[in-house]
Amino acid sequence: RDYDVLVIGSANADLTVRVDRRPGPGETVPGTDLVESAGGKGANQAAAAARLGARTALLAKVGDDAFGELLLDAQRAAGTELRHVLVEPGARTGTALIVVGPDGDNQIVVSPGANARLSAADVRAARDAVAAARVVSLQWEVPEETVAAAVAVAGETGARVVLNPSPVPGALRAELLAAADPLVVNEHEAQLLSGVSGGEPAEWARVLRESGARSVVVTLGGEGALVLDGVADAVRIPGVKVEVVDTTGAGDAFTGALAARLARGASLEEAARFAVRVGAVAVTRAGAQPSYPGAEEVSRS
Ligand code: RIB
Ligand code: NA
Repeated sequence: RDYDVLVIGSANADLTVRVDRRPGPGETVPGTDLVESAGGKGANQAAAAARLGARTALLAKVGDDAFGELLLDAQRAAGTELRHVLVEPGARTGTALIVVGPDGDNQIVVSPGANARLSAADVRAARDAVAAARVVSLQWEVPEETVAAAVAVAGETGARVVLNPSPVPGALRAELLAAADPLVVNEHEAQLLSGVSGGEPAEWARVLRESGARSVVVTLGGEGALVLDGVADAVRIPGVKVEVVDTTGAGDAFTGALAARLARGASLEEAARFAVRVGAVAVTRAGAQPSYPGAEEVSRS
């Protein structure tokens, strides 16, 4: 197969300002200079995988504007195959308005723009790309029908599906959950989708697997991750202590790295151990894609 990883999903220009204090309703606060950088959960996953040396392609849609150019340039620099990125004349490229607080945590508002026009038909038209991929990695910033089409085609072509339901939908259709190998969720997503609020990551993961996911990874921020594969007991992977600058896109770096390793035959646990280290590097630098490491930096970390 030509691609280790095919990411199907969103691409956004991230417009980021840091603040010392978040504004309340109706309040205005000053921030730093505006930074424009490459983001979007799909494009982030692709950039992360490509930087780590995986043969990576991205199926996404951008507008014919300057933000679209910025995103294409960033993917080119990361080494992503770009022939499946669609440029929609007259559409605006997806844009994320991001406020980063002093703790490195963020609040994000996304204007989907062209991402909303990445259609199930676009996915079916790219069937050859899916057939060329070992792993297909998906998130939820494009229409659910698009995700469903990707799952269907991946099933037909025998690609492994990595499914990151983020931003989290209210519920996951049974056939989407059943394709997830793994389902990658953070604590919030895990509780919402399992219907178990509070409790332990191992319990959320067990419920999600019983509900149909083939395997589950719960990301725990600075605390690492919990892995539940198809057969064994849950394994807890410790976090890596780092100085947090900006957590934006760290989960996408994790998922892209996980997909890259799974495509090369790693076990889910091995892949998640590596992905935790990639995510840890990503939070030490500003922005999403600009903060992603190459394989060499990860091995030194
Ligand atoms: O997951 C982080 C991403 O969410 C940002 O890059 C932003 O574009 C939003 O999609
Ligand atoms: Na970062």
